[in-house]
Amino acid sequence: MSEPIEVRKGLVGVYADDSSVSKVMPETNSLTYRGYAVQDLCENSSFEEVAYLLWHGELPDAVQLAAFQAEERAQRGLGPGLLRVLREFPHGAHPMDMIRTAISFMGLEDAEAADVSDAAQRRKAMRIFAMAPTAVAASNRLSKGLEPIAPDPTLPFCDNFFHMVFGRVPAAEVIRAFDVSMILYAEHTFNASTFAARVVTSTMADMHGAITAGIAALKGPLHGGANEAVMHMLSEIPSPGKAEAWLRARFDHKALVMGFGHRVYKNGDSRVPTMKKYAEVMAEVVGDKRWMNTSAVLARVMLAEKNIHPNLDFPAGPAYFLMGFDIPMFTPIFVCSRITGWAAHVLEQGADNRLIRPLSHYVGLEQRTVPAIGLR
Ligand code: COA
Repeated sequence: MSEPIEVRKGLVGVYADDSSVSKVMPETNSLTYRGYAVQDLCENSSFEEVAYLLWHGELPDAVQLAAFQAEERAQRGLGPGLLRVLREFPHGAHPMDMIRTAISFMGLEDAEAADVSDAAQRRKAMRIFAMAPTAVAASNRLSKGLEPIAPDPTLPFCDNFFHMVFGRVPAAEVIRAFDVSMILYAEHTFNASTFAARVVTSTMADMHGAITAGIAALKGPLHGGANEAVMHMLSEIPSPGKAEAWLRARFDHKALVMGFGHRVYKNGDSRVPTMKKYAEVMAEVVGDKRWMNTSAVLARVMLAEKNIHPNLDFPAGPAYFLMGFDIPMFTPIFVCSRITGWAAHVLEQGADNRLIRPLSHYVGLEQRTVPAIGLR
């Protein structure tokens, strides 16, 4: 008699490896990056410091931060080949498809692409981190018939992104809200896109391939694509007063409500209170409370009726909208942040690698004979 096989569909509850990058504690709704609570990092650090933390295991001192920033700022420019390709992307292509293709193309232009030594992987991670926002901003502008704006090496990471998208740097509160969103999106253990990146790395394929796979997985509306889906959903609701009726009609159709639920957190996403606070700051800055008021109704009814809490995408969607970004840009912005987490996992996987290769429980037809007629 063979052993009974237990299939864990969706790998629910499976521990696939050890990791020291981040820790999710659903029982206390908390999340730490390298041991630091994410909400403390949001209040006391910049996204660049958090990127350093994820890659090096410790927060930088002033000298280390200055060197990290100098390296990032020096590598933001896109090669002529990539710029030419961005210009040739079909009009109407989704920005996630454009950034996925752009990162893959960066691998073609990177002389170290095939070198999977730790030192080369770290250098490539920095190049991808520095160039991705430039590619996202350029493809957004080109898709609207506008010329790309060159990166400004005198500006910090987040300020420079606004500069490249809009041609100006907004008020400090807006930059702060964006910086916080980037910290919150940076890392989240073995989520689908990170796991995809680790699977690619486990075959000893290169950094660009791993990040490209991560982007492909992130696009789906069950994962990163939810921040766009949230904003489309909120836009369908005519006013906060109509939100409850809209939601109940959705329950009748048993449709998913985007921005709610989470595979790991069942009692609330640790990142939501911080992002909600900054989305409310954005509503105040812009003077438009409609989205947050509608969100509040949806959150109240979802909890009362379904006992399902919002996830990070729920406040992040309206926050990005209020910052002025086009909705299809939301998930590419998430990419610019999560590159830090993906790269940290690529480095960790590479340092103690074992090919990731699970089994499948075969439920198809038993072995049978090919009919002779098949040869004629
Ligand atoms: N809207 C309505 N019902 C939801 C829901 C949502 N957003 N999320 C979960 N549920 C329901 C499921 O229908 C299921 O109900 P059932 O037991 O009656 O079938 C139950 O809650 C458990 O959900 P399940 O799909 O098994 O959870 P999961 O861990 O497999 O999936 C998500 C987690 C995130 C994929 C899921 O919650 C979802 O699709 N959310 C919407 C997309 C989203 O916001 N994604 C971003 C994630 S950070």
